[in-house]
Amino acid sequence: MTYIYLTENTHKAWIQIVIEDTEWNILKEFPATENQSFAQMAEDHDFEMPVSCCSWACFVCACKVKEWLEHIDIAKLSVPLVDVDEDQVLACIGWVKPSAFSDGLFHKIVLQKLM
Ligand code: FES
Repeated sequence: MTYIYLTENTHKAWIQIVIEDTEWNILKEFPATENQSFAQMAEDHDFEMPVSCCSWACFVCACKVKEWLEHIDIAKLSVPLVDVDEDQVLACIGWVKPSAFSDGLFHKIVLQKLM
């Protein structure tokens, strides 16, 4: 585990994304980046999230948000075409809200793959 210490003058946040499987085993951890979907971030860190349509319609990429739901925007570009529960996000279009990157705090967003 990597610890990052923020100074008082730093307003930039540190956001860690944790991907778990259906049995709650950690599959991958990586730092979040702005303006990218969770699937794009994972790919940049050599982890392949299951995606198919990448257009909000198939549910293959669905994840349950176990921690820090309030920092997630479920749809970066548009609303999902499939129904998702309040605590779920489609990794192909979900992303971290821009406001989460500027609060100067550490956040760990835990996503549990549903498939
Ligand atoms: S890949 Fe189909 S909804 Fe995300």
